[in-house]
Amino acid sequence: MDAVNLHFLSLTLLSLLHFSASFTPSDNYLINCGSPSNASVFNRVFSADPYEPGAAGSISLTDRNPPPSSPALYRTARVFTRASSYTFSIKKSGTHLVRFHFSPFVAQGFDLKAANFSVSVDGFVLLRELHVRDSVIREFVMRIDADVVEIVFAPVGDSGFCYVNAIEVFTAPEDLVLDYGAKLVGANVVEYKNLSSQVLETLYRINVGGSKLTPFNDTLWRDWVPDVDYLVLKSAAKRASTTHTPNYQGGGATREIAPDNVYMTAQEMNTDKAITGAKFNLTWKFPVNTNSGHLVRLHFCDIVSPALNLLYFNVYINGYAAYRDVDLSVLATNVLASPVYIDFVVDSDSSGMIDISVGPSDLSGSMRINAILNGAEIMKMVNASNLRAGTGRKKRSIWILVATVVGGFVVLCFAIGVFLLALKRRKKKLKPQPAESAVWTPLHVYGGSSNSRTSERTTLVSPGTNGYHFLKISFAELQLATNNFDKSLIVGSGGFGMVYKGVLKDNTKVAVKRGVPGSRQGLPEFQTEITVLSQIRHHHLVSLVGYCEEQSEMILVYEYVEKGPLKKHLYGSGFPPLSWKQRLEICIGSARGLHYLHTGFAQGIIHRDIKSTNILLDENYVPKVADFGLSRSGPCLSETHVSTAVKGSFGYLDPEYFRRQQLTDKSDVYSFGVVLFEVLCARPAVDPSVDREQVNLGEWALEWQKKGMLEKIIDRHLVGKIKPSSLKKFGETAEKCLAEYGADRPTMGDVLWNLEYALQLQESRPRGEQPQGCDINEPLTNSIVPGDPSTNVRTEGNDGNGSSEINTSLVFSQLMTNDGR
Ligand SMILES: *[C@@H]1O[C@H](CO)[C@@H](O)[C@H](O)[C@H]1NC(C)=O
Ligand SMILES: *[C@@H]1O[C@H](CO)[C@@H](O)[C@H](O)[C@H]1NC(C)=O
Ligand SMILES: *[C@@H]1O[C@H](CO)[C@@H](O)[C@H](O)[C@H]1NC(C)=O
Ligand SMILES: *[C@@H]1O[C@H](CO)[C@@H](O)[C@H](O)[C@H]1NC(C)=O
Ligand SMILES: *[C@@H]1O[C@H](CO)[C@@H](O)[C@H](O)[C@H]1NC(C)=O
Ligand SMILES: *[C@@H]1O[C@H](CO)[C@@H](O)[C@H](O)[C@H]1NC(C)=O
Repeated sequence: MDAVNLHFLSLTLLSLLHFSASFTPSDNYLINCGSPSNASVFNRVFSADPYEPGAAGSISLTDRNPPPSSPALYRTARVFTRASSYTFSIKKSGTHLVRFHFSPFVAQGFDLKAANFSVSVDGFVLLRELHVRDSVIREFVMRIDADVVEIVFAPVGDSGFCYVNAIEVFTAPEDLVLDYGAKLVGANVVEYKNLSSQVLETLYRINVGGSKLTPFNDTLWRDWVPDVDYLVLKSAAKRASTTHTPNYQGGGATREIAPDNVYMTAQEMNTDKAITGAKFNLTWKFPVNTNSGHLVRLHFCDIVSPALNLLYFNVYINGYAAYRDVDLSVLATNVLASPVYIDFVVDSDSSGMIDISVGPSDLSGSMRINAILNGAEIMKMVNASNLRAGTGRKKRSIWILVATVVGGFVVLCFAIGVFLLALKRRKKKLKPQPAESAVWTPLHVYGGSSNSRTSERTTLVSPGTNGYHFLKISFAELQLATNNFDKSLIVGSGGFGMVYKGVLKDNTKVAVKRGVPGSRQGLPEFQTEITVLSQIRHHHLVSLVGYCEEQSEMILVYEYVEKGPLKKHLYGSGFPPLSWKQRLEICIGSARGLHYLHTGFAQGIIHRDIKSTNILLDENYVPKVADFGLSRSGPCLSETHVSTAVKGSFGYLDPEYFRRQQLTDKSDVYSFGVVLFEVLCARPAVDPSVDREQVNLGEWALEWQKKGMLEKIIDRHLVGKIKPSSLKKFGETAEKCLAEYGADRPTMGDVLWNLEYALQLQESRPRGEQPQGCDINEPLTNSIVPGDPSTNVRTEGNDGNGSSEINTSLVFSQLMTNDGR
């Protein structure tokens, strides 16, 4: 702790010196390899290749047909057919940045993609058996203490040549890598010393919550990329940004550590509509090599708090508590919105992942639960592997000792400070102690479900200290509820495991999904997803009531939906056939639920496994979409991904998935299109017992729809009961959903609107005739142009009216009055 504080103090001085002066490296070699001319790139000049044209074993290669977007630097390359080197004289010893640009092309008989080679600096091999398929920059941060540095390129294997398009060697700012203050993360966190003697290779440089930054935007000509591809649960995070340039005077960072833009954006916890008090982590995952040491540098700048000392959060790396109760106000010496960075040294384990999480600390007051991250860099320690095994062990124990003895005093001071602070807060907080129930009220209002179960569910809320625990249900209670998982209570099964019908102590009926016991990997993500999903309440989505994670069990508890899967009511189970109106209402309700998933509170949740068995009907035939969102978690939860192909949801799967290996919200639209045909034709999505051309319902029905003869294949119970205009609208809607390319498919909102319209067409009567059994006076006209129903749908979620027993016509009339365009 002392070291960290010293570190920040000394940096404060440094940052004063650096302030406003842009960085000018003393050594600055930028080589446009293979080119006889200078190239200007992002305000810098890469000079012509100093290699003499005739040098043995060396060729200047020029791309004669470069793609138009190819930068000048990448249109030439230096090719060596034997081990050869560049040497640079070094004016200032110390940390340098060394970058190699490789961008393969084909010219003069060389296919640069085929090169297989190594690169070493001063005899230290940085890149082994390098093989480059796409343009790449490999960056190293390393000490260079000699007067001359030699960079050797050598072909390996039988490739016979090697190449490079550009080289950068320049002096790094003195404070870029410091020898003290880094934290070695493990069961105990201790200081990691002498970081600057490590050779570091940049793997990730992330502008969290922000946009891509080019060398043009960065003082050290670095690239930064957005974080979204690494964020585990996007809906848990919310972007924050400020227009004020950061105040570098308080914290430890300088403009050279990271540019303004990194500190001006962040991701924070998405607690917008969440229940106040819910605690969860934001997690990013980065694939790395297994079993090697990494420097993880995290950048922070409190752009989310209105004042000092409001934000307290924890940082976890690979599941270890790497830094508890981070208080940016202290780290930034009481300057708000001042950039700070913290270095962590971690071993990647055999999972080949580095997980970075930030989550609220116990010091956060219940009204100020938040955690942020502005930027992250991950660098591999090229010559240190296995920090924890072997060499690391002995040193570590010494560090622990040093840290304990020296750090003790400062830690004590800090602890006292924190304690006093906490005490102050506690005092203020004392009163709202029974806030527990108040905290939960919005949930029920938000849920808007008019059914009586909601109020009963309140009793389920176990008196946890924060929202997170309310969902936990003890294993014992679930045993009781399901008569110890009585086989006769099984109502379904899936890749996840068995589903049991159960009754909780308060007589709430629930569906209990018990994961295959013993498979509990990915628990943190599981919990995060649970936390988000538990906050989703919508009339047309099956709500998660709770979960249990005791004794190697992973159990999800859902509200029980009386009449079960839609599929059973369509065919094969002998239930009375549903009327066309009922079917339309079921489709509309399901579409509304999905639309909400895609655009509502926790935006961007893709269901991934829509099928008629995942749409459940309650006692009034109100549809509720089940099984959404649990997608990326532990092994048994990721089944949806696999199951779509393996478990027989095949007929529903987006064909684009095969091309792009990625499910999107438009994949849901595709699957929903198949469900629409299933509802119309009352037959399974895939039926192996029929003629080959009929096996796949989606394809087969689409053919009939395109021929304009859809009525020939509809459920015989519906023959003569559907108005042609309604059928036409319905068929067109399903057809659009099944478009080959996701981009051509409508959004769930459009689908919803079109289905509403199909229902309206079915219900409409010739002018003058009074609508019967309908107490809402609304003009029925056929000349409505689609509006955007999303606003209505959202209102519905917020004001709790979503419960309308498919109050379709009401919504529809709103559509016409509010959105009639
Ligand atoms: C490249 O730029 C350097 C200065 O940066 C200059 O001295 C040199 O003459 C230029 N070379 C060519 C070929 O333009
Ligand atoms: C590169 O050369 C090494 C050494 O001969 C060989 O083991 C490796 O497979 C080669 N890599 C590729 C991609 O050809
Ligand atoms: C760290 O660096 C100091 C001086 O730079 C040196 O005396 C010490 O031996 C180094 N420690 C390790 C573990 O390399
Ligand atoms: C890493 O490599 C550098 C450069 O060769 C060397 O100076 C340093 O001592 C090495 N560090 C470790 C921990 O092996
Ligand atoms: C970053 O630089 C690019 C030019 O490469 C510029 O277009 C962009 O606006 C800059 N972005 C920011 C955030 O300054
Ligand atoms: C956040 O993640 C850490 C490490 O995985 C875990 O120990 C902690 O319980 C998580 N916190 C919450 C609120 O989920």
